[in-house]
Amino acid sequence: MIDKITVVGAGNVGATCANVIARKDLAKEVIMLDIKEGISEGKALDMWQTASIEGFNNRVKGVTNDYAATAGSGVVVITSGVPRKPGMSRDDLIGINAGIVKSVTEQVIAASPDAIIIIVSNPLDVMTYTAYKAAKTMSNKVFGMAGVLDTARYKVFIADELGVSPNQVEALLLGGHGDTMVPLPRYTSVAGIPVTELIPADRLNAIIERAQKGGGELVNLMGTSAWYAPGTSAAAMVEAIVKDQKKIMPVCAYLNGEYGMKDIYLGVPVVLGKNGIEKVIELQLDDQEKALLNTSAEAVKKVMNVLDDMKIF
Ligand code: LAC
Repeated sequence: MIDKITVVGAGNVGATCANVIARKDLAKEVIMLDIKEGISEGKALDMWQTASIEGFNNRVKGVTNDYAATAGSGVVVITSGVPRKPGMSRDDLIGINAGIVKSVTEQVIAASPDAIIIIVSNPLDVMTYTAYKAAKTMSNKVFGMAGVLDTARYKVFIADELGVSPNQVEALLLGGHGDTMVPLPRYTSVAGIPVTELIPADRLNAIIERAQKGGGELVNLMGTSAWYAPGTSAAAMVEAIVKDQKKIMPVCAYLNGEYGMKDIYLGVPVVLGKNGIEKVIELQLDDQEKALLNTSAEAVKKVMNVLDDMKIF
């Protein structure tokens, strides 16, 4: 257990994330910070009032824009920014969210210079890069949540197809958090059985496509983007760090030559532990997988160019 975890943004994703963190008793204090007066105070109080029912002890507190209250956080999850509406891609959000993520990160790191920062804001890969630039800290301490969510979606679709428990589905995914993300059937198994032996190729391809567009499916249903799975996914990363679990998770990580790429944030498998990203794992990709990863990287680079043109750094 650590002393303090902060979640910035008390919207649906941030509040869900803080709630899961609280229920797992991962810190002495869980701080939620939002810019809207009263929202995080209210949600935190509501959450704290579940403590005796759920049986947790970590004190949940909400503050309005008071970064001093976040000082000394070991892990900070940033969910700030606007979510997408139907018809929008995640990339359409960059104009609003880049400035917000930059300013939030600067304030977070000023209060907690040693914090490990997990970005959830979209467009995820480029917002993680933005936070890295703003934090001016080591890249193993700034990374993004996308692959845990995207594989979680992919796993339940596989479980539904087979009528088996999602808990026995193991899967990996590479690339950006967009429609070109790359679920990897060769690295997907169910109770140790390769998924390709269980699901015919055409069905599996349909599942992969549904996973790639999984965020959009929910935006179309709800008119805004998802929160239970995104918030829970970020909390799972926090847990791996706080408990030093050394779990291998797909994470949006800074690449410095891995997978033949440099100076870009992209989803890859990493080992997560108390130091944040402790190792980037390089898979032995075949030519088709490499091509898909490169296509996904190109899509992220286009959004990186938009960030460059904004000249906020
Ligand atoms: C999603 C958003 C959080 O995929 O990007 O639901």
